[in-house]
Amino acid sequence: MPTCASPSFTTRKRWVIGNWKMNPNLAAAKSLAQALITQLSAMPIQQCQLAIAPTHLHLITISSLIQHTSTPQKIQLVAQDVATHRHTGAFTGDISADLLIDAGTQWVIVGHSERRTLHHEDEALIELKLRAALDAGLGVIWCVGETLSERESEQAAAVVTAQITAHTELLSIIDPQKFILAYEPVWAIGTGRTASPEDAQQMHATIRQVLSHIRPALNETSLLYGGSVKSDNARLLAQCPDIDGALVGGAALDADSFLQIAQAFDIA
Ligand code: PGA
Repeated sequence: MPTCASPSFTTRKRWVIGNWKMNPNLAAAKSLAQALITQLSAMPIQQCQLAIAPTHLHLITISSLIQHTSTPQKIQLVAQDVATHRHTGAFTGDISADLLIDAGTQWVIVGHSERRTLHHEDEALIELKLRAALDAGLGVIWCVGETLSERESEQAAAVVTAQITAHTELLSIIDPQKFILAYEPVWAIGTGRTASPEDAQQMHATIRQVLSHIRPALNETSLLYGGSVKSDNARLLAQCPDIDGALVGGAALDADSFLQIAQAFDIA
C-alpha cells in the first residue's frame, strides 16, 4: 500500500484531541478521563499533546480530575462550542468563553461540520465565535472540510480554501500559539470511511500553502486530520509530512484506542 514519506523535522506541535460529542454520561466521562490519566502515568506520551472535549456539563468535573493528577503530561481541556458573546449577559442557554475559562477550559472547537450542518452555522457566525474565544484567551481548534458531493465534483480544495480565506483578516492577526486547524472531510466523520493518507496529505499541503500565503508565521500551524481516525489507520496518517495530529470522535470514547492513536503520532 503506498504511504506518505516520513515526516521531515518540524517544530510544529503534535496533537491528538478526543471529541467526546454528546456521548458519555457523567459517570462514564469520569471513568474515561480517569482511565486516560492512569494509563498515561505508566506510559507517558512524549511528543504529542493530548486533549479531550467532554460536554459543557462535565468540564468542571473533568478539569478537577486532571488538575489533581500527578501525571507529568497533563491532558488539556477543550469545549465543544462557545457563544458569540464573550461576557456574561442575557443569552439564555449560551456558554461564554469567559465561563469556559472559568471552568478550566483551554481550547474550543469552532466550525465543526456537525454544527455547520445541524445548526446552520455559517462563516459569519463562525467568525464571531472565533473572535469571542480568542479575545477571551481561549485557543481555537478550527474545523474545515468538504462534503462528499463537493469531493466527487472535484471542488474539495476550492471549498476548503474558501472556508479558510473567508477569515483572512482574522488569520492575519491570530496568535499562532492559539490556533490549530483540523481538516475533517464531512463524508469521513463517523462513517468509518477515512481519507487515504495520500488524499489527506494533499489537502493538508494545500491548506498549509493557503495559510502561509496569508501570513508566513502560519506555516507552523498544527494541522490535524479528523474523520474515522482509529488505532489501525493512525500510523499511516502520522507518517504524512503535513499531518500533525488527529481530531478523534468515536475512537476517543475508548481509552485504549485513543492512547494507541496518540502513540502513533508520538514521533518527533
Ligand atoms: P469520528 O469523528 O472520528 O467519529 O469520525 C471525528 C470528529 O467529528 O471530530
